[in-house]
Amino acid sequence: MIRMTSHETTYYSHTPVLLYESTTQLVTNPAGIYIDATLGGGGHAAEILSRLNKNGRLIGIDQDDEALAAARSNIGTDPRFSTIKGNFGYLSRLVPPELHGKISGILLDLGVSTHQIKESERGFSFQKDGPLDMRMGNLRGLTAYQIVNNYSYEDLRDVIFHYGEEKLSRQIADAIINERPIETTMQLRKVIESVVHGPHQIKSVARVFQGIRIAVNGELDMLRAVLEQGLKIMEIGGRFVAISYHSLEDRIVKRFFKAGNHTGQVKKDFYGHEISPIRSLSSGIIRPSEDEIEKNSAARSAKMRVAEKIKEM
Ligand SMILES: C[S@@+](CC[C@H](N)C(=O)[O-])C[C@H]1O[C@@H](n2cnc3c(N)ncnc32)[C@H](O)[C@@H]1O
Repeated sequence: MIRMTSHETTYYSHTPVLLYESTTQLVTNPAGIYIDATLGGGGHAAEILSRLNKNGRLIGIDQDDEALAAARSNIGTDPRFSTIKGNFGYLSRLVPPELHGKISGILLDLGVSTHQIKESERGFSFQKDGPLDMRMGNLRGLTAYQIVNNYSYEDLRDVIFHYGEEKLSRQIADAIINERPIETTMQLRKVIESVVHGPHQIKSVARVFQGIRIAVNGELDMLRAVLEQGLKIMEIGGRFVAISYHSLEDRIVKRFFKAGNHTGQVKKDFYGHEISPIRSLSSGIIRPSEDEIEKNSAARSAKMRVAEKIKEM
């Protein structure tokens, strides 16, 4: 758990997931250059730095100012550590060109931090009332309010169905349109609950919120982009470690780690030999232990995959 106080009221809490497993897999060269593309409060970053020697280097990226401030405060002054504010979907633009081809590993601990969820004014939580925002940082213009109040029925239904994986997407989209304008997270929750009844009601609420959050932040497109660009800027032998928290993310990671492209089909050369630029190192997914899940419920849906760059394409 990281607690950060930069002034009297600022507070940051997040417990890093699969901390030991992810950093052991990531850091193979203590003098290497690493990227933590989802810096958050810097929990993983601090552990990565502890595995590097004085020549190693870590670049932390986040699109959220609060996360960057928390990580800097948590790690303190360390000449091996630097931060960049930005969206990891633009990784190759964020990382200085002179480091392209020299990156030894990239960590992706996807999704939102506990801190972001807990801060009700960020609008991620359906447990507390807040504005319909859901932006992970202030770099994007689109908010949950615009999706909920301005999207057409078809677009809203698709967000709920494809990104939320919620079966009652049509009925929920209808109810949302009938209740417009919807201003807050609690109002949205009530509208969903007016459609979905029974013991799975809360799961549907969570799914709709997830769908809207993914759309607001363009999460799946950004994930595809960081995988492609990350592979290009890594050195041969460089590693990707990705921790995902829902099946849509995990599917994208799984395909890419298998084939180095988003179809999941390994390309073959003229002779029929497979020519994937990447090799998956985790034969299956790596999950947190029962013990970790008991201590940190946010870890319960985590799935980690590891892959190594084996050739340039
Ligand atoms: C699960 S938290 C990471 C927590 C971190 N590993 C730690 O130990 O504290 C995910 C972080 O990634 C950031 N993030 C998610 N998607 C991003 C993106 N596309 N670009 C930049 N940062 C992103 C979020 O703002 C959040 O701070």
